[in-house]
Amino acid sequence: MRLISIGLLYFFSVGFAVYAATAYLYFPLGSLVHPDMKSNFEAHSAGIYSHIFSSTVALAIGPFQFSARFRKRYPSMHRRLGQAYLGIGILIGGFSGLYMSMFAYGGLIAKSGFGLLAILWLYTGLNAYLAIRRGDVTAHKTWMVRNFSLTLAAVTLRLYLSASVVADIEFSLAYATIAWLCWVPNLMFAEWRYNNFAQ
Ligand code: HEM
Repeated sequence: MRLISIGLLYFFSVGFAVYAATAYLYFPLGSLVHPDMKSNFEAHSAGIYSHIFSSTVALAIGPFQFSARFRKRYPSMHRRLGQAYLGIGILIGGFSGLYMSMFAYGGLIAKSGFGLLAILWLYTGLNAYLAIRRGDVTAHKTWMVRNFSLTLAAVTLRLYLSASVVADIEFSLAYATIAWLCWVPNLMFAEWRYNNFAQ
């Protein structure tokens, strides 16, 4: 069961990171999203491109950082990947996500959902960094589990959106709801389970 969950974690996070990077590298901007989102992306292309390419780094690196075997074998690699995760993924991805949240499709509910997600993403990342700087490994792990549960919002958002299309739910309603649903349960689950991961 544990192996299956870990396999799914790698599959969805690395898989979506590769998909997003490839799609936004090779397809015209906004060609794969709702037309209203497309015009928004075109008006803020620097914001959306920096958001996608930096956040992708966090999503692709994240799962490896939780492997105890990887950490033990390659401690300096864990440090370097951690710097890329926080410095590129969270710092740039978080601020550009916060910027893009002001223009998000789905009205005030979606804007506030994405905005709070971005703030918590930055806040948990900062706490994880400060904890390891003062040598508090336990606190570092705890904040990282919280932080990565928020990174995974990128995956849960797309899974719930696909489910809403299958269920034939109107897009703007689904999108605004999912702007919250994509991360609140993730964070609650992380709070409940973090003791099991922090080993
Ligand atoms: C966890 C914090 C995150 C926040 C606050 C955030 C916020 C946003 C916002 C506001 C948008 C624009 C949506 C709109 O205009 O309606 C967006 C789009 C996007 N984000 Fe994020 N995001 C986060 C994480 C990630 C991660 C980790 C990835 C990894 C690849 C990612 C990839 C994308 C992509 C590809 C889009 C373009 C829309 C699409 O193709 O579906 N985001 N994000």
